[in-house]
Amino acid sequence: MSKKILLEHINVPGIQGYEAYRKVGGYASVEKALKMAPLDIVEEVKKSGLRGRGGAGFPTGMKWSFIDKKSGKPAHLVCNADESEPGTFKDRYLMEKLPHLLIEGMITGSIALEAHLSYIYIRGEYMWVYRILERAINEAYANGWLGKNIKGSGYDLDVHVTCGAGAYICGEETALIESLEGKRGNPRIKPPFPAVSGLWGNPTVVNNVESIAAIPYIVNNGGEEYAKIGVGKSTGTKLISASGHIKNPGVYEIELGLPVDEFMNSDEYLGGMYSDRPLKAVVPGGSSVPILPAELFYKNAKGEPRLMTYESLSDGGFASASMMGSGGFIVYDDTTCVVRNTWNFSRFYHHESCGQCSPCREGTGWMEKILWRIEHGYGNMEDIDLLWEIQRKIEGNTICPLGDAAAWPVAAAIRHFRDEFEFHVKYPEKIKDRNHFVAEPWEKVKHLVKKEEVLV
Ligand SMILES: Cc1cc2nc3c(=O)[nH]c(=O)nc-3n(C[C@H](O)[C@H](O)[C@H](O)COP(=O)(O)O)c2cc1C
Ligand code: SF4
Repeated sequence: MSKKILLEHINVPGIQGYEAYRKVGGYASVEKALKMAPLDIVEEVKKSGLRGRGGAGFPTGMKWSFIDKKSGKPAHLVCNADESEPGTFKDRYLMEKLPHLLIEGMITGSIALEAHLSYIYIRGEYMWVYRILERAINEAYANGWLGKNIKGSGYDLDVHVTCGAGAYICGEETALIESLEGKRGNPRIKPPFPAVSGLWGNPTVVNNVESIAAIPYIVNNGGEEYAKIGVGKSTGTKLISASGHIKNPGVYEIELGLPVDEFMNSDEYLGGMYSDRPLKAVVPGGSSVPILPAELFYKNAKGEPRLMTYESLSDGGFASASMMGSGGFIVYDDTTCVVRNTWNFSRFYHHESCGQCSPCREGTGWMEKILWRIEHGYGNMEDIDLLWEIQRKIEGNTICPLGDAAAWPVAAAIRHFRDEFEFHVKYPEKIKDRNHFVAEPWEKVKHLVKKEEVLV
């Protein structure tokens, strides 16, 4: 069984409230941090090897060390609780069940950065979670963990929760900062990075909810202890939100390094395929990461068993692998239409593009239209190549990574499932029903088209 660091106390009655949280050792990391030199806390986080859990996997300690403490400007810690990536719902679970864990991490992290004003930016759709956080923050103030002169240390800190208005792009850290400043959530051109010029032009660290929630354990137990969990550069535990055609959907805390096979098929985790149908594909890290066909899922291109680590899930590059991303694990059986799924994702990215750069603003719309055509039986073979060209021209040519996030799922779908796109073009009468592969699963009709390799 995986060690639990974040969700260890999730089943303690009343753990949402201050008293129960304090009884299981809550806020001990704040007491310890107040006695440490801020740079020593940063050092512990570096030693832990913790990588940002928001999607990019950037080392948290290193990010913290970029804050220029000599700039004379106040620093800020901003918690990214925007969580809008389709398939990802782990931060919601953590904040809903363990709000004080996040607040403890915010205080300890702020002490490390010498920040006296920090924010939690939460997506507008999580209004009930916003209220849970507000209540917990009020309890933290009432018990002397926030406000002036925390526990007689002379250290002052305020933490505010701010609600977004429901835009996916506000999860991108610079758009989030713009939104926090009261402006439209348009991503900024980087550099300068937030560590140099972030909120109100001050040095700012933006971290994901799960990254911040891991800080209390690291401070209490030391970075080296945290680094003992996991494999190689994938240290610690990771929350995975699992959905789709599996027996046990939900949020799981796993030790990084867990074999993919065990995660998928053991009763402790996903319990195997729902209705025992064949596995067709998996999107292991939220809608932005490449879809992985079943044959590349359990083993990498070298035939080695795949592990739940940043490295193993991306081993082989996009030609034969995917990414850990935000841990939004979506499983598809053979009744899933990959074209329809890709069209659905494309609709989302087109809708969420902020429109600042033309490859993303125009390209996401073109991809959505072409995918609609193919899915509804009006496509032709040139459309598939056109789609390929458009996604190529978006990737890497935009201000923020939303463009890449829109391009990668399309590229992977064509790369691995081109035969399915061709099937849609060649047999429009067979896809009239929107649930066409439910009526006639892909396994039964795929012999009608020849699988062509897309070499990239
Ligand atoms: C379009 C877009 C949406 C994003 N949404 C989120 C999000 O909802 N939550 C999050 O933590 N990071 C999100 N990110 C990543 C953030 O920009 C940033 O890398 C992250 O908050 C850093 O925290 P971490 O280092 O702890 O992972 C998003 C990035 C992009 C490009
Ligand atoms: S890539 Fe898209 S979302 Fe990002 S800045 Fe450009 S238009 Fe906006």
